[in-house]
Amino acid sequence: MGMIAGKRYYGEEANDWEEARQFRQVLEDASTLASGSRLKDFFPWLRFLDFMLVSRRLKAVVRERNAFSQRFIDEIRKGVGAQKKKTMVGDLLGLQDREPGEYTDALIRSLSLSLLQAGTDTSSNTIEWAMSLLLNNPHALAKARDEIDVVVGRDRLVEEADIPDLPYLRAIINETLRLYPVVPLDVPHESAIECFIDGYKIPRGTMLLINIYAIHRDPNIWKDPTEFRPERFENGKAERLCLLPFGIGRRKCPGEGLAIRMIALALGTLIQCFEWERIGTQEVEMTEGAGIVMAKAVRLDAMYRPRPDMVPLLVGL
Ligand code: HEM
Repeated sequence: MGMIAGKRYYGEEANDWEEARQFRQVLEDASTLASGSRLKDFFPWLRFLDFMLVSRRLKAVVRERNAFSQRFIDEIRKGVGAQKKKTMVGDLLGLQDREPGEYTDALIRSLSLSLLQAGTDTSSNTIEWAMSLLLNNPHALAKARDEIDVVVGRDRLVEEADIPDLPYLRAIINETLRLYPVVPLDVPHESAIECFIDGYKIPRGTMLLINIYAIHRDPNIWKDPTEFRPERFENGKAERLCLLPFGIGRRKCPGEGLAIRMIALALGTLIQCFEWERIGTQEVEMTEGAGIVMAKAVRLDAMYRPRPDMVPLLVGL
């Protein structure tokens, strides 16, 4: 939201709590409704019932989503308050002045909503999976913390420029995305033309789902595939293996670079600043929930306390 519309919905500088709540609700409703199978996929003759059950709700959510994004577009157009800073919507409105037929409000709404919908849950769920894996593998957590202490020290927080010098942190993110790719079946694709694959005729318009989750756990590709072992990614060892949490080809996720940087910064800061422990002796539950974006079935609860050396820095923030 910061980059798109100059807004902040979390932390002390949050702009408006009611708006923040709406933002979360709109994204959650849209992803819940867009996830999973529909009755008409299995029983096409029940199309009418499906319409009654889902399509009407989906249309209502789309209306809400559009109204929500139109509000921040209008605010930026009027130059209200904090919205005067440089934002993606601001730049697009600048282009609209020059080419109104091309850069319509509908286009600006779609671009903003695609980025918000695609970039929010994916990144936050990956951080939650990573923290859960680290709590179940304390040796990896300790190794990541040692790396951060050597490279960054304890006088300042991890910064974007540090990420290339933190290869173990990067390996943890890769290993998390391998075991728990948050878009496990990729986004549905459709064949644009009739084609033949391995002797099978694929008609035009066939839906293609890619089981990224299964590919990432294929024992023919990965040694001990169900084990959490970030070391397999150290020194470019797994470069040629089939890691595709962001999809593949021309429609591959355009947010990959941003996602890796945001996840590395958030995870790196959590590791650098806090001591983490599981609640009780049980391992963190790792069952996957359903949905187009794969969240944990049971949300992570953990104990944490500031690392004594980091307290002065945290107090000064
Ligand atoms: C861990 C984080 C993320 C993962 C695992 C992820 C994964 C994916 C996947 C699998 C796709 C579908 C690619 C395909 O069609 O084959 C996708 C599409 C997309 N992602 Fe991401 N994504 C992440 C973060 C982000 C972020 C941070 C943004 C931007 C802010 C973003 C923006 C998009 C957009 C706009 C698309 C649609 C692209 C298109 O249809 O052409 N994603 N992402």
